[in-house]
Amino acid sequence: MSTSPLSVPEAIERRRSVRKYTDAPVSDADLRRIVELAGKAPSAWNIQPWRVIAVRDPEVKAKLQKAAYGQAQVVNAPVVLAVYSDMQGALSTLEDTVHPGMPAEQAAGLLATVRGIFGAQPDIARESWGNGQSYIAFGFLLLAAQSLGYSTSSMLGFDAAAVKAILGIPEHAVVPGLIALGVAAEDGFPHHRHPVDAILKIV
Ligand SMILES: Cc1cc2nc3c(=O)[nH]c(=O)nc-3n(C[C@H](O)[C@H](O)[C@H](O)COP(=O)(O)O)c2cc1C
Repeated sequence: MSTSPLSVPEAIERRRSVRKYTDAPVSDADLRRIVELAGKAPSAWNIQPWRVIAVRDPEVKAKLQKAAYGQAQVVNAPVVLAVYSDMQGALSTLEDTVHPGMPAEQAAGLLATVRGIFGAQPDIARESWGNGQSYIAFGFLLLAAQSLGYSTSSMLGFDAAAVKAILGIPEHAVVPGLIALGVAAEDGFPHHRHPVDAILKIV
């Protein structure tokens, strides 16, 4: 999209779940930029367990729609993003996540700590922790897309085992959500939210 990027507050105010899209494509360059921005999300120990599969193929989208209980936006959006968390994969490349400026001794200590903590956990605990971290990137992704002129629709209504089988996502991984992505053909519902006083207490 050739619009100037929205500011963060503008993107937040404009984002709504959109379930109807035009035929306008999402370029590879925009797709890469959106995921690059989402990847700047913070994560504990900088683990970055999130992974994204971008689906354009209509046949694959049709299969995903079935797995998502027929949700229309899965096929009428030009792209569907499957966001998943793969802690096993992330831990196997842990060295890549250490800041290059960190002194070697400190880096070695950090790696040992993280491997010790997660190594002692069952798969399910580790992957559910990664799922929480991945929602940070998930939120960034929605706002990055909005900022670049696209709309999105988050989905958790799907059969995760079926989605994993369709996309070849490892069985141990967790899928925080699918995201329909494209140019909006409708406005979506106006925000309906708790007032700030209901969610904030200043002490
Ligand atoms: C993790 C997550 C999962 C969601 N799953 C679905 C879904 O499966 N289908 C759907 O139509 N909307 C889904 N939604 C959209 C929510 O209903 C929507 O975000 C909420 O009602 C607020 O509306 P808004 O996004 O337009 O501000 C999901 C949202 C999130 C964040």
